[in-house]
Amino acid sequence: MARLNLLAPEVQANPYPFLAELQRSSPVCQVDPNGAWLVTRYEDMVAALKDPHRFSSEGLALLAEPPWLGSNPSARSLVTAEPVRHGKLRTLVNRAFGVTGMARLEALVRQLAEELATEAVLRREVDFVEEFAFALPRAVIGHMLGLDRSVFPKLKRWGTAMAVVSAATTPEMQAEVRDAIAEMGHYLDEIIESRRREPHEDLVSDLLRAEVDGQQLSREDLVRFLFLLLPAGLETTTNLLGNMAMYLARHPEHVEKARTDKAHAVNFIEEVLRFECPIQALFRLTSTDVLVGGTTIPQGSMVILSSAAANRDERQFSEPERFLPGREKQTQHLAFGHGIHFCLGTQLARMEARLGLEALLSRIQGVVMKRGEVQWIPSLAVRGPAVLPVELLPLA
Ligand code: HEM
Repeated sequence: MARLNLLAPEVQANPYPFLAELQRSSPVCQVDPNGAWLVTRYEDMVAALKDPHRFSSEGLALLAEPPWLGSNPSARSLVTAEPVRHGKLRTLVNRAFGVTGMARLEALVRQLAEELATEAVLRREVDFVEEFAFALPRAVIGHMLGLDRSVFPKLKRWGTAMAVVSAATTPEMQAEVRDAIAEMGHYLDEIIESRRREPHEDLVSDLLRAEVDGQQLSREDLVRFLFLLLPAGLETTTNLLGNMAMYLARHPEHVEKARTDKAHAVNFIEEVLRFECPIQALFRLTSTDVLVGGTTIPQGSMVILSSAAANRDERQFSEPERFLPGREKQTQHLAFGHGIHFCLGTQLARMEARLGLEALLSRIQGVVMKRGEVQWIPSLAVRGPAVLPVELLPLA
């Protein structure tokens, strides 16, 4: 049995060689005698995600709602719902995230991306995470939730609280998480009430109106869903945009081509999603003994499905360790998951990345990183720079 320290600094800095070695030598292994199982092969991960009965999302709910917290609305939302309930909830929220909903947002996302890119390029040396990668999805989610701009600074507090729930070990951290969740609940209640009285052309009003077979979202399910959007849509997209800037700096040969060829820009984004996926691992709980790649994982085990490893599995992608925009099977990466819980915000995330990249590349000739070492967010589950000091070189 392998004893692995997935949080060791050298693994955090570069998890890929370590995961590749595991993928070769023990593709299904227990992380420690009482602990979780780690699954690293693409094929095994897809099979698990296609089987939500035996690989239940209760694994994620357990992490998001530890005993000290009491209730966390996002832990009992769409992303953790069992298949039958999930199907009903997903149908109710799908339309708001489909083609029409996204078309309604496109002009706004473009305008926000252009404003932020103009400001950042004017300042030239910026922390890209703070000034662009976080600012863009924050403004988009803020708009979708119907939050007044004055509340935007609070989104950082709420987002951080949601992200650190499973790592909040001290009483101070736990108190902060509880307070942030209560504060967020209060704001969301006010917004729901105001949209109920006076509907707008926005997400909350759409969700209040949504109806399938005479059924509507209950007030509780609506709150849970809005809670989910913060961890699901904010940090993930921030990390995608941060990783994108990093790869513009590391691979300047793609800058000109991505500026002049829209298809190449899209390929570039997809390759960043595969190569440095913002969510590196998904969590499931086995509801019965299951055989995975020849190994039995007992009932009641926490299973970590490593998207980071699966996206570089040589059985699925040729030359997986090379950054190759436009590669074969490039959209088959698992960055957005697979199966019933496949990311609801895929179109939105891709749109933010595409319009963000366009806004930047129409103003800059390149990105230079001002620090050799990237300071990654310390986490097994997410991948993105915590800060990214860069120089944005304006177009002549
Ligand atoms: C689910 C990734 C952006 C909303 C997921 C899952 C992944 C993922 C891997 C599956 C979770 C699981 O199976 O346990 C990403 C990435 C994003 C992104 C990498 C950005 C680059 C967004 C955005 C939104 C969003 C912008 C909405 C504003 C959701 C929701 C779910 C989900 C609601 C749950 C879907 C369900 O259970 O049916 N996302 N996401 N995501 N994502 Fe995203």
